[in-house]
Amino acid sequence: MTLDQYVCDLREITARHSDPVEITDLVVPLARKFAQSPELLRPEYRECDAEQGFGVHMLHEEPNHDLAVFLVSWLPDRGTTPHNHKTWAVVVGIEGQEQEVNYDRRDDGGKPGYADLKRSGEQVMTAGDIACCYPEHIHSVRNVGKDISISLHTYGRHINYTGRSEFDVERKLEKPYVVRVADDAHARAQILTKRRIS
Ligand SMILES: [Fe+2]
Repeated sequence: MTLDQYVCDLREITARHSDPVEITDLVVPLARKFAQSPELLRPEYRECDAEQGFGVHMLHEEPNHDLAVFLVSWLPDRGTTPHNHKTWAVVVGIEGQEQEVNYDRRDDGGKPGYADLKRSGEQVMTAGDIACCYPEHIHSVRNVGKDISISLHTYGRHINYTGRSEFDVERKLEKPYVVRVADDAHARAQILTKRRIS
């Protein structure tokens, strides 16, 4: 399955459905198929952001930031803080081992900047495994393998445009969460330049 076909199918599904569970049920088999696409094997998609701990490579978003598809590559023993998404998500493991820790929220979210979270479970995702997230679901992700891990992430909306949050569980804090997205157009230009020079 090509990226263009995948995006066409995502458009069709989200035009017909608005319930996040109905959408993810339909997206899961397609995401599983697209995760095997040779298009995802570009070397630049394996690059991780050393400061952030993971590289976020954007494959697609609509002009209004809906339907965002990312390949995310994670450095060993690095990951995210606990966070929500404020949109639906379907994640497929491609390579390595990613641990997902889930949290329940105990407060009602009514006090700005405050959040009381309790760890509720965890699982490890390997190649071919799928995880779905819903708008208020809170989790953290960590590469628990020895090598980089890679996963395909599809969201109802680009996660930097949903107004989502990250959480400090110990200090009971909630704050805005924005990730750095790799400049792959720049990376591709550098690869082409290197090929021309050598
Ligand atoms: Fe997440």
